[in-house]
Amino acid sequence: MKVSVVTRSGKEFIKGGLELNDSATVADLQEAIHRRSKKYYPSRQRLTLPIQPGSKEKPIALNYKKSLKEYFDGNSDNLIVVFKDLGPQVSYRTLFFFEYLGPLFIYPIFYYFPVYQFFGYKGERVIHKVQTYALYYWCFHYFKRIMETFFIHRFSHATSPLSNVFRNCTYYWTFGAYIAYYVNHPFYTPVSDLQMKIGFGFGLLCQVANLYCHILLRNLRSPDGNGGYQIPRGFLFNIVTCANYTTEIYQWLGFNIATQTVAGYVFVVVATSIMTNWALAKHRRLRRLFDGKEGRPKYPRRWVILPPFL
Ligand SMILES: NC(=O)c1ccc[n+]([C@@H]2O[C@H](COP(=O)([O-])OP(=O)(O)OC[C@H]3O[C@@H](n4cnc5c(N)ncnc54)[C@H](OP(=O)(O)O)[C@@H]3O)[C@@H](O)[C@H]2O)c1
Repeated sequence: MKVSVVTRSGKEFIKGGLELNDSATVADLQEAIHRRSKKYYPSRQRLTLPIQPGSKEKPIALNYKKSLKEYFDGNSDNLIVVFKDLGPQVSYRTLFFFEYLGPLFIYPIFYYFPVYQFFGYKGERVIHKVQTYALYYWCFHYFKRIMETFFIHRFSHATSPLSNVFRNCTYYWTFGAYIAYYVNHPFYTPVSDLQMKIGFGFGLLCQVANLYCHILLRNLRSPDGNGGYQIPRGFLFNIVTCANYTTEIYQWLGFNIATQTVAGYVFVVVATSIMTNWALAKHRRLRRLFDGKEGRPKYPRRWVILPPFL
């Protein structure tokens, strides 16, 4: 079969088109494009079906696993696909690794090194017990997330745009430095011993619960890289769609009860609003996929992220 590859403006992208055999998949087409245009490796390509000019319809994206014929109903004489360059890509593991590595290294710098001298504090710095526990808690959290990235999560997308590395690192690294600066500050006033114990104790329980939620999510997918979605079940997932985000938010709350800084609470508010938006989208997607029609299961009634608020 002959495939014409055009840009979104309708210009021919691959001169003369591509000749593929009739059983070719979308992945074969992507490889063929890559052979002709070395810069555009498969994960950088987005291929869609053409839409009528002026149409408000969303173009249908081609799934790399499917056969090309499935998209063209046997009308394989004149196959046209639209090519879009997604820009340089990195693997999801690389993205997550770099965003978590920053806070893991930046936070201890404020604890161990005399950085406050550069901000004009000359006196001896007395380290409070809560500051030491906060350091352990913080490092455990980011170490756990790196381990989960490599050994637990089964991502559906292989790659993410390189620009997300800069955006996400800015978010995590800046907040890491901002919170570390205030929690380790020479003028920091510790909370009571009881409050510290309640905060860290509650936070640690939530971190363990968060790990368990990630294991339950992992078990929804087979190791062969099938990136489909299932109804999460078990533990807190029986009550709330994004139990992993709920436990993430509460573990940060525990950290803040124990350390009590404005910087820490600002982070909780920002992180909660980000995760709430994602949770609403994930909840909608699961309800759409599991609508109870044509033999599909119906998504059970559940809170989205923060019962009893949402
Ligand atoms: N502090 C913050 O600002 C902040 C923000 C976001 C996340 N986090 C933390 O980072 C963790 C990971 O974040 P995330 O957004 O990557 O989590 P996520 O998408 O909800 O889930 C983690 C993994 O489980 C998969 N998964 C989710 N729902 C599934 C379903 N119904 N069926 C099958 N697989 C499913 C995801 O697949 P896909 O690859 O298809 O998504 C992903 O690989 C969070 O749980 C949270 O602890 C922190």
